[in-house]
Amino acid sequence: MTGGTVLLADDDRSIRTVLNQALTRAGCRVRATGSASTLWRWVEDGEGDVVLTDVMMPDGDALDLLPAIKRKRPELPVIVMSAQNTVMTAIRAAEVGAYEYVPKPFDLKEVISQISRALESANRPAKPEDAIEPREESLPLIGRSAAMQDVYRVMARLMNTDLTVMISGASGTGKELVARALHSYGRRKNGPFVAVNMAAIPRELIESELFGHEKGAFTGATERVSGKFEQAKGGTLFLDEIGDMPPDAQTRLLRVLQEGEFTTVGGRRPIGADVRIIAATHQNLRQLIREGQFREDLFYRINVVPIRLPPLKERIDDIPDLTRAFLRRAEAEGLPRKSISSEALDMLKEREWEGNVRELENLVKRLVALSSEDVIDASVVQREFASRPTLPGDSMAAAETLGAAVEAHLKRYFALHDDALPPAGLYDRILKEIELPLLTLTLAATRGNQLRAADLLGINRNTLRKKIRDLDIQVTRGKKLM
Ligand SMILES: Nc1ncnc2c1ncn2[C@@H]1O[C@H](COP(=O)(O)OP(=O)(O)OP(=O)(O)O)[C@@H](O)[C@H]1O
Ligand SMILES: [Mg+2]
Repeated sequence: MTGGTVLLADDDRSIRTVLNQALTRAGCRVRATGSASTLWRWVEDGEGDVVLTDVMMPDGDALDLLPAIKRKRPELPVIVMSAQNTVMTAIRAAEVGAYEYVPKPFDLKEVISQISRALESANRPAKPEDAIEPREESLPLIGRSAAMQDVYRVMARLMNTDLTVMISGASGTGKELVARALHSYGRRKNGPFVAVNMAAIPRELIESELFGHEKGAFTGATERVSGKFEQAKGGTLFLDEIGDMPPDAQTRLLRVLQEGEFTTVGGRRPIGADVRIIAATHQNLRQLIREGQFREDLFYRINVVPIRLPPLKERIDDIPDLTRAFLRRAEAEGLPRKSISSEALDMLKEREWEGNVRELENLVKRLVALSSEDVIDASVVQREFASRPTLPGDSMAAAETLGAAVEAHLKRYFALHDDALPPAGLYDRILKEIELPLLTLTLAATRGNQLRAADLLGINRNTLRKKIRDLDIQVTRGKKLM
């Protein structure tokens, strides 16, 4: 490391001594203090090339000081160390523009290499915009609205626990993102994060998917296959769309949660379950319980810590930050660099956003692709809104054609299996899934008239009858079903 002056602030004298010696050995000059106000004075006086600071000091909190430091010396990198290593300290540090966050106890070598990287980057002239909003796009969750602060507070309390979490919220509000953040910053971060989407797996395969099966457990089970519970060992199991779990699987899951062990389908030997469970749903589980679709006892087992993600409408203050982060992401994906005018941002704030953050993200990508100017202005947004009225389910907008929807579905399905292959019979299963809405909606359109439906579909009447029977479709004559 070549030169550079480190402003070191920590009220713990022994930490100051250790860091001072190591940094001096690495070739830095060091000014050390145990006081936030002294640190601020040095910064104001233009001293130092990098700041290494503790969070809590007797006369102040370094994170409160950071916005002022950023305003005064935007180019000065600040590395924050903290013993309160919850995701919140990390998130707060990143939000106020810390260059890096180092949880205590730290690895000395690690700190030194952070300092040397910071010094290098300080020598490179930064783009002014980057200095004002550093690294926002790399936050796990973007948004500082009051509604999101409530979410962060619950997350922070959960960080070092294995408590079961139930995340609810409309489609596209970030449920999966929160689940991943809880895992990545929690104590199981070195274990796997395994996601299972109950809505994406055929109902009859869910139990085998979750718990695995033995060879010969059912037709097609040609070998033993491990389930998600086994694959997530030591890590987190994310049960997405848990409201779609069939009753038998619910019963089995409840037993696992009560007993802490499970058996594979067709197996007898109990296997210890070593997973942290995070569940998510966009449905109202209490409603499903009333309708007899979801087990109440399972609900209470899972709903240990509820997190409700607010719809985007309840956090419009976050829209500018989210939009700018998505602009950066688009840029990182190879699209041209764009910014957005404040009038355009105001228009985004007034939108209904049925598809929530995902809809905003998709829109921003379209805007980047559509606008030929460097600055996306209100007229571009206006044109885009006019061509696409907001629709419930716009969260599906990414998949515009049937082919694209099926492709997206299959990609997710294969990804769910990682390196393993899904159970045999895929062709029939997928065609059945497409057949069902095709036949149901056609029959609805012909008001249950099977002859006309067969004509419309261009298939034989008897073929249609057989399919109606096989797929167990209820045909109501004379009534429009939609
Ligand atoms: N707070 C946020 N900051 C940044 N990106 C976000 C945020 N919330 C959501 N997103 C982005 O929006 C998209 C949707 O998020 P996610 O998949 O987590 O939503 P979800 O609630 O699981 O939706 P669904 O119910 O449709 O599965 C993702 O691309 C995610 O990265
Ligand atoms: Mg999701």
